[in-house]
Amino acid sequence: MQNALLETCCPDLTLLARGKVRDIYEVDDRHLLFVATDRISAFDVIMKNGIPGKGALLTKISLFWFQWLGERIPHHLVTADINEMPETVRQYADQLAGRSMLVKRLKILPVEAIVRGYLAGSGWASYQKNGTVCDLPLPAGLRQCDELPEPLYTPSTKAELGSHDMNIPPERAREILGADAAEAVERISLQLYREARAYAAGRGILLADTKFEFGVDGQGRVTLADEILTPDSSRFWPLDSYAPGQDQPSFDKQFVRNYLESIQFDKQTPVTLPDTVIEATLQRYQEACDRLTQS
Ligand SMILES: Nc1ncnc2c1ncn2[C@@H]1O[C@H](COP(=O)(O)OP(=O)(O)O)[C@@H](O)[C@H]1O
Ligand SMILES: [Mg+2]
Repeated sequence: MQNALLETCCPDLTLLARGKVRDIYEVDDRHLLFVATDRISAFDVIMKNGIPGKGALLTKISLFWFQWLGERIPHHLVTADINEMPETVRQYADQLAGRSMLVKRLKILPVEAIVRGYLAGSGWASYQKNGTVCDLPLPAGLRQCDELPEPLYTPSTKAELGSHDMNIPPERAREILGADAAEAVERISLQLYREARAYAAGRGILLADTKFEFGVDGQGRVTLADEILTPDSSRFWPLDSYAPGQDQPSFDKQFVRNYLESIQFDKQTPVTLPDTVIEATLQRYQEACDRLTQS
């Protein structure tokens, strides 16, 4: 196995942030370099070792979707081709090629736009308690991982590194973002989820839910940002084995989560994942990427 790239080091560029997965550099006052490392996080904790090649696969998947979107929705991607990037970036091609996107620098909106088409994760937990997901009432008798009557928009506030995101009612999102931006975020998120779900289904992937982030550009336009529709930002389930009433096998981090639960992970202290978990996870990312992008 190749080595995992856990951190990039580009001293001629200003490092603005290291997120759970990405290193973000300033390129100029209107552009950022958005680099996916091989770090993996689960339950919002970054693991000690990475998944070699995961950053490139995530970038390939996001790039695929941005190109699939074309001009239909304003988004932040400028290019993912290292040869089209400025020389200040190209000098680090060894580290960056294949895992980086040059993006428009945006003011990120402080709300995560989550869309759920199926009853899983925290949605299922809340439904079992009181029959609702994020205060939205649902029909009785739904099973774990059942399809919801309609996709639900369930925004959350973006947590600082190390803490967990918090679900908020859509009215609260309107107060935070203002009516116009909130309306655009909700409408675009639901539309994109529906369209992507239909596409993914044709590729044997059930897109159970996903999370988008938006920002505002210099002209005040609500613009799609971050990674989109990847196994890190979504639940991908294999369509052919879909069977509600239980947890689903998945292309996403559920595999890592299951391992962590099996060792009674405290959800705070980073651990080293065993090679078997790393290899199986990488294989899942690769398969998700192949299914979506190969013609
Ligand atoms: N176009 C953009 N301009 C500015 N910030 C962005 C842009 N796109 C994404 N971001 C921010 O970059 C970070 C992505 O890094 P990541 O490792 O995924 O972070 P996180 O740990 O928050 O998931 C997020 O904080 C996201 O809000
Ligand atoms: Mg992220």
